[in-house]
Amino acid sequence: MRVLVTGGLGFIGSHTVCDLLESGYDVTIIDNLYNSKEVVLERIKEITGRAPNFYKFDVQNKEKLEEVFKKEKIDAIIHFAGYKAVGESVEKPLEYYENNLDTTFALLWMMKKYGTKNFVFSSSATIYGVPDKVPLKETDPRKEATSPYGESKVMIERILEDVSHVNKDYNIAILRYFNPIGAHKSGLLGEDPNGIPNNLLPYINKVAVGELKYLNVFGNDYPTKDGTGVRDYIHVLDLARGHVLALKKLETNPGLVIYNLGTGKGTSVLEMIKAYEEATNIKIPYEIKPRRSGDVAINYADCSKANIELGFKAKYTIKDACLDGYNYQLAEEKRKNS
Ligand code: NAD
Ligand code: UD1
Repeated sequence: MRVLVTGGLGFIGSHTVCDLLESGYDVTIIDNLYNSKEVVLERIKEITGRAPNFYKFDVQNKEKLEEVFKKEKIDAIIHFAGYKAVGESVEKPLEYYENNLDTTFALLWMMKKYGTKNFVFSSSATIYGVPDKVPLKETDPRKEATSPYGESKVMIERILEDVSHVNKDYNIAILRYFNPIGAHKSGLLGEDPNGIPNNLLPYINKVAVGELKYLNVFGNDYPTKDGTGVRDYIHVLDLARGHVLALKKLETNPGLVIYNLGTGKGTSVLEMIKAYEEATNIKIPYEIKPRRSGDVAINYADCSKANIELGFKAKYTIKDACLDGYNYQLAEEKRKNS
């Protein structure tokens, strides 16, 4: 079975490609390297001992996309390619809507023309907006998103539902990720954003290796256990597994299915700092700062649906993710300086 993975050299895509190859799937990657590097392809080969087919172009390019569908029999698509920086999306709404929507449209047209029936989409917990209650269930309402990034995910979910409605033979899995963190055990794959990171764990990693002095903790007056924001952090290797399990589910012809992928546990910023310090033996200095605009107090998943229907259960702990993330950051710094 051949799986087309768009954005397969990115953070979540590269880990998923490894799991797919190790699980016996054939993989074709399309990535324009907007937010990734070609060296990731070599690392995937080093980890798995297998070589995915790779094409470097923008998924919005229908002519080039069609060449791939003509050449290869694509049985399923996992669509990771897209822009994902929440803050940037507010500044660049057109770029975000265009890239996230047009890549999806281009793929859906190819499915129609070339008979591919299986589609897995990277959605986000952001579609729940400001939650009325936690844990969040798949049946909870999608809310108006607080950013163009989030709104693009809401729109694509709607589009997929409409497309599924008239294509009863399509099998579509919408996967709503909570907060992916960590890195590959080999230290070869992970997340290393350019510039100052926006997200918590990439920021802590940079503090741990001495690139940044201290962490800013955004708010300690939330109605949570210690006043800091609570999130559901999931190891990227567990998240990758969720995609393989979702593909297996699609083989049973379920139509359109939606799953939260998280751990079901909420962790505060201060708890995360403590876990990181315990896992790595490195002190993470921090300063309490005002709340970051747009942040919610608490957000974590009810993952019982994915557990019952996919057999999905996160097996790695927060500490595993902290250590793996740190080891990757350290290895990356060494590689850059050598
Ligand atoms: P990433 O930026 O590391 O990976 C995305 C990959 O897609 C990159 O390699 C990039 O070069 C590629 N890409 C972007 N636009 C492209 C295009 N038009 N054509 C070809 N390639 C293109 O991001 P990630 O963290 O791996 O996220 C993957 C998906 O999961 C995204 O859709 C993102 O919105 C979604 N998601 C991520 C998170 C998260 O916290 N990382 C949370 C929820 C949902
Ligand atoms: C953010 C996005 C979300 C997206 C996800 C992808 C916003 C509002 N939400 O989630 O849509 O799907 O990234 O990974 O941008 N924190 C600090 N100091 C920091 C960074 C973060 O205290 O330097 C805190 C935040 O206030 C929050 C928690 O850490 O309480 C997690 O933040 P982050 O990693 O940015 O993820 P989210 O905001 O949950």
